[in-house]
Formats: sequence, structure tokens, C-alpha cells
Amino acid sequence: MKIHAKEYRVLGQRDPMIYGHFIEHFHRQIYGGVYDPGNPLSDEDGLRTDVLSAMRKIHVPILRWPGGCFVSSYHWKDGVGEERVPLFDKAWRVEEPNTFGTDEYIQMCRKIGCEPYICTNAGTGTAEEMSDWVEYCNLENEGQYAKQRIANGYEEPHKVKYWSIGNENYGWWEIGAKDEKEWGRLTLEAAKMMKHVDPCTELSAAALTDIDWNVNLLKNCGQFLDWISIHEYWDPIHETNDGADYDACMAYTADIGHSVRKVKGLLEAFGLEKKIRIAFDEWNLRQWYHPKVHCIEQGVTKEEYVVPRDDNDINSQYTMADAVFTASFLSMCNRNCDIVGMANFAPIVNTRGCIYTYPDGIVLRSTYHVFDLYVNYLGDIVLDTWQEEVPVKQMKRIDGEIVEVEQLDVLVTAFSDHAGYAVAAINKSADEELSFTLELDAAGTVTVDYICGDSTEAYNDVDHDGVVIQHKELGIFESGMMITLPPHSVNVIRIGVEEV
Ligand code: AHR
Repeated sequence: MKIHAKEYRVLGQRDPMIYGHFIEHFHRQIYGGVYDPGNPLSDEDGLRTDVLSAMRKIHVPILRWPGGCFVSSYHWKDGVGEERVPLFDKAWRVEEPNTFGTDEYIQMCRKIGCEPYICTNAGTGTAEEMSDWVEYCNLENEGQYAKQRIANGYEEPHKVKYWSIGNENYGWWEIGAKDEKEWGRLTLEAAKMMKHVDPCTELSAAALTDIDWNVNLLKNCGQFLDWISIHEYWDPIHETNDGADYDACMAYTADIGHSVRKVKGLLEAFGLEKKIRIAFDEWNLRQWYHPKVHCIEQGVTKEEYVVPRDDNDINSQYTMADAVFTASFLSMCNRNCDIVGMANFAPIVNTRGCIYTYPDGIVLRSTYHVFDLYVNYLGDIVLDTWQEEVPVKQMKRIDGEIVEVEQLDVLVTAFSDHAGYAVAAINKSADEELSFTLELDAAGTVTVDYICGDSTEAYNDVDHDGVVIQHKELGIFESGMMITLPPHSVNVIRIGVEEV
């Protein structure tokens, strides 16, 4: 395959928030995950220092919280102040202790060094309750909620800039689901009140690729929105946990940006593409496993619907398929940096996350190293590239459809703050080394940092490091140089980058 790139043909500068993350009050993401009071590895606020350190290493830019489905019957006032009353979480059908609430979340974000991003309850909640939350977080001292925050020990406003109105309220499975007309009206009222409290907030609202839903949302509320939220999980296993195999996962990468294309088209039709950006604020190759709760037939015993959630913790499930898919998605976000300004891996800790916790430590799953490579090795200026002789393969999706999958995905970036280039190169082939030549006016040494594992099934676990970042040097770059990639690998090739 031949790749051509010109340093003056720039697609744009990617927003670092495309490397964002999400954490929900679900299973062991918060309780027993990042929030583990009493664990020797936790700090004075009960936060796992090893988890915080791993989050800082991949420079988590923004962290969406507290849900997800959880938020659609969550009332934030239950999670602040001295008295924390345990309540029944009707979304996930477990008890929510409410010991981790807004103030604990903000403290966590400060320790990570990331922006908070709060998703509000548009299920059972009201426009007033959402705007009260903004009062609590962002007003200096006016009104009861800012005064409550001060009384709770937080003199200074939390200054939460990013807010989302609702979560998947379009879905029958969501508590407080709405039709498009109800949604248009509610989002307008909520946005109005939230902006009245703090006009410096940036607002998003739950959306999808459905035209009617988005037309009503944008007609009613477009003038108040800065973002539009979409979600996507490709492997539909929330009832079965029977993950698709490597080739089926690669088939999912065909047209991986279809949702972005559809929503961008609608924003352009409204002339809003310069005002509203896409927040892909939940995405992952695989759905979370939570049988008999997201369906009509609810589990009766905890063995039916709570205990199985532990199967998300089986680390051997997160292989090079997850890593290669994750890299493909992040490269897509880079290529669409004109419209995708945020993306949140769902979730970051436990469940299908990139960081797994156990009482004595953490496991960095294969997907964690993809974020490490993209955040710490790739550039922020996305170059336009064109390619010839792309190797393709007919691959079967689990629904039986045959799709054509490009086996190589090559993204060329430059740096806004120093010389050199960095190329994210993905080889999706399960068993073949693949090569490409790069036509680029560049000079300097060539290094490659990459993950591939010893097979498509390579994974990391407590006592097993099957996927680690490896490094090699390829000498001095010449335009037209051939670069060979191992099978099932994610590579960042750096050219003329002085090691900082
Ligand atoms: O499976 C987890 C759920 O997926 C999230 O809570 C929700 O936002 C999405 O439907």
C-alpha cells in the first residue's frame, strides 16, 4: 500500500477530548473500583492512587459521570452533604450508597487533572433539578445550593463547564424514556434554565442518528447546544457475553464512522456544524454484560441479574481485537476532528474498561496501551492522506453480512509544538505482516512503538502480560520508505521527533 501525505494538507487539529472517558455507578466502576475506602492503596479520600496514576499517565482529558442509564433516576441532592441516605437504584436494581457524589467526583477529577463532565437526569428529573445542580457546582454563593456547597466544605465553585442533558432518553430501556417531541421541549427548558444559571457552561443533549429525534432536538434547542451526544457499542452482548471473535470484530471496523457521518450531515443541513460538535460520549467495541435488566424479562434472583456482572471482569476477554478496534475508532475521530470534539471510552475502570482493579493492584488491559500510544506518541495536527493499493478483505459480520474491510489503516499527524511526524498504523490482519510505503517530505530517525501480542487472543491479567508496548528503531527516514507491520498490531511510527 502507498500512503501520500503533504505537511500543508491539514485536516485540522484534534481536540484532546477525543481521548476522554466515562465512569458510571455500575458494578465495580466507582465502588470497589476507583473509590475503595479502606484499601491500603487508597488515599485519604478513598480514591485508589494506582488507578489515579494510570489515568494521569494517559492524560485523561475529560471524565463523564455518573451515567449512563444510572443517571435517569438519580437525584444529585441525595449525594451531597453530611447525610447520605442509601437508595435503591432502579436502573441497575442495586442499592446506591450515595457515599460517592458530586463533591467526591469533583475531587477525583482534580486529582486526575481532567475536566468534569456531568450527565443530568432527564428521565425522572426536571429542568429545575438539572439547573439546581449547575447552581450547586458553579455559583459563587448566590442561592441555597451554592450556599449548601459552601456549607459542605467547598468554598470555591466547582466550575463544571461540560454538562449533558439526559442519557439515551430515546430508548425504551431508559427510565423516563421520551418521544422526540417531548425531548425537544424538555431539552429546551433544561438548557434555558442551565444557561440562565451559568451561561459559560457548554451543553450537550442525548441524541442518536435518528433524523426525527435530532430534527426536534435541533429545532427546539439547537440555539442553546454546543454539543450533541451519541453512543455506540458494536458487539451486542449485554444479555449473552459471548464476545465476537477477532475477524468479526474487524468486520465491525468497516464504516466505523457511519454515525459521525449521519449526524454531521444533519448538523450541516441545519447550518449548525460550526456551532455544535459531536460528543461521542459512550463508545466501546463490546456492550457491557448485564443480563435480565435491560430487557422485558427482569431477573428475579441476584444470581440471575447481579452476579453475572462479575463476568465483565474476566480479563482474557479483552484481546488484540479490542485494541485494534479501539485504535480504528480513535483514528476515525482524528480524521473527523472538524466535527468530533469529544469521545468517551465506556467505561475507563472495570466492566469493559481499560483499567481493571483488584484489591492488591490494577491490570492495564490491551485497550489502555492504545490510549497510551495515541495520547503520548501521536501528534495533534491531522494531515490529509491519500492511499493506493489498499489491501482489503471480505469479512463476515455476526449478522451474516459480508463487508469489505481495509486491512491497513494509516493516519499521519504532525505536532503543533515541535518538528516531526507521527503515524498511527493499524494492521488488522489476523495472520499476515503488511507493509506500506510513506510518501512524505520528512527527515530524521524513525522509531516505532507498538502493541501486537503473540496472537489475536493476547491479553493482560494479574499474573500475565500478553500485551505490552514494544519499541524498535528503523534508521533514517526517506520518502517512499517501506514500513512493515506485524499482524494484529497497533503502531505509532515517529519520524524526526526529538525525544522530549
Ligand atoms: O451497558 C451500559 C449502558 O449502555 C449505559 O449505562 C447506557 O448509557 C448505555 O445504554
